[in-house]
Amino acid sequence: MPRLKQSQAWLALKQHYDEIKQVHMCDLFEEDKERFAKFSLYFNDIVYDYAKNRITDETVSLLLKLAEQAALPDWIERLFAGDAINHTEHRAVLHTALRDQGDAPIMLDGVDISVEIKAERVRVKCLAEKIRSRVWRGATGQAITDVVNIGIGGSNLGPLMVNEALKPYSLHDLNVHFVSNIDENHINETLEYLDPKTTFFIVASKSFTTQDTMLNAETARQWYLSHIGSDEKIGRHFSAVTSNTKLAKAFGIADENIFKMWDWVGGRYSLWSAIGLSTMIAIGAEQFDELLEGAYELDMHFKTAPLAQNIPVMMALIGVWYNNFFKVQATAVLPYDQYLHRFAAYMQQVDMESNGKYIDRNGEIVNYQTGPVLFGEIGISGQHAFFQLLHQGTKLVPADILAPLFSYRCIARHHRALMSNVFAQTEALMRGKTEQQALEELQKSGMSEAEIEALLPYKVFPGNRPTSTFLFDTLTPRTLGSLIAMYEHKVFVQGVIWNINSFDQWGVELGKQLATTISDELNDDDEVTTHDSSTNGLVNYYKQRRSLKRS
Ligand code: F6P
Repeated sequence: MPRLKQSQAWLALKQHYDEIKQVHMCDLFEEDKERFAKFSLYFNDIVYDYAKNRITDETVSLLLKLAEQAALPDWIERLFAGDAINHTEHRAVLHTALRDQGDAPIMLDGVDISVEIKAERVRVKCLAEKIRSRVWRGATGQAITDVVNIGIGGSNLGPLMVNEALKPYSLHDLNVHFVSNIDENHINETLEYLDPKTTFFIVASKSFTTQDTMLNAETARQWYLSHIGSDEKIGRHFSAVTSNTKLAKAFGIADENIFKMWDWVGGRYSLWSAIGLSTMIAIGAEQFDELLEGAYELDMHFKTAPLAQNIPVMMALIGVWYNNFFKVQATAVLPYDQYLHRFAAYMQQVDMESNGKYIDRNGEIVNYQTGPVLFGEIGISGQHAFFQLLHQGTKLVPADILAPLFSYRCIARHHRALMSNVFAQTEALMRGKTEQQALEELQKSGMSEAEIEALLPYKVFPGNRPTSTFLFDTLTPRTLGSLIAMYEHKVFVQGVIWNINSFDQWGVELGKQLATTISDELNDDDEVTTHDSSTNGLVNYYKQRRSLKRS
């Protein structure tokens, strides 16, 4: 197969891009009154409107050809079949198995992994329910009031985001905290208000070697022992979720409190596994099952829907359209739902750690752009912060907007105002404001001609800024499960198109290696000369200041 940029589908898209790059979406809406019906898809209570994108029927058909050319249907099959598509680590990618609700066995290397998954889930549920129902007692016989998840990356962002998103489903007298940062302020601030007699720790780390997590776990253990003073009772207060049982045991965690992760689950795809223990404690096993079911239903949609009606596929293709033809560098995820306030941070890892790659599956350097910079914030806050750039900046930033139609504790006028902002922003970004419209507005305001002339250019909005909107009824566990799975699969599809492995993350290793070396160098006050002058200078400045402070 020719390399991607020389392929027929790519060249056809390139030519099509040249033809439509100047076309304004206002004209597209004018020409085709059925655009919304044509460019929207429904899944359970979710509607995905992609009509406000710079696409035509032809764009969609060419993008679908690109997907076919990349053998996307085969890749989808291989994903679900447990092929070792994470080829650099020789691993299957089976986070979908963690939420599978079917009865069929899921075979991997001759073993039905669904049996082990279910058994492990029962163990997790059992502990979660004991803690929730106050049956589980700490070393001094008291019930647990606070759970602290110690983990980072996928062992933090997923459960943290879900716990925040599903707050209305959580027990209100059981607090779940998350500690991720190696900066001692994070754990200090968290522990300061907790009682060791009623605190339960989850050390969440697939590898059980991540420096940040291990240091925080060690500090938590010392804090616990300094108050309670008994090593053998540590089992009442510490659990681990890991694929490295040996190290978890060596840390002192009792066998029955060690929950399994498998090497075929990537950290950033692991919230469905025992990594979700903190979520299960917060929302209960039944609601956790709903989360899994929502994801499973979306998995089935992804597996079976024709490409043109397949939501993750269309999300991915539209992303590729902007990334590789409009050459956009960034994309925004903007939830208009306070409960989704960590959604963008979580998606950042899913997307950027998966597709931030410059070597393709053949071991060659790509000659096209892969994953974009993903950023985001609660939409309303963003409006008053960075939306200026979205509306009038020199960069094109396609955005996803997510909003619930109904709120848990609805105050009608709040929700109406919220939704009016959702609709207004997508319309404003698309439509913009012409010079003529701006002029008329200024004239109506009674300004002088000279003032109008000076101000007019600033009042014009070019528009033609794309958004895709996801509306859903209410952010239930089921809907959240579906939304997360949609994004996971979008990232996978883009990886297939770009011919990269979305499931390894070698790029994070270098910084870790250097940090280990430098950490050793920080043990004394000797001058460091082994690095470049900037790194030497910074390290030595730190050492000098540190020794001055000590003396
Ligand atoms: O350094 C990146 C990373 O490996 C992520 O992929 C992962 O989610 C995170 O660190 C935490 O890893 P672990 O769960 O092994 O502590």
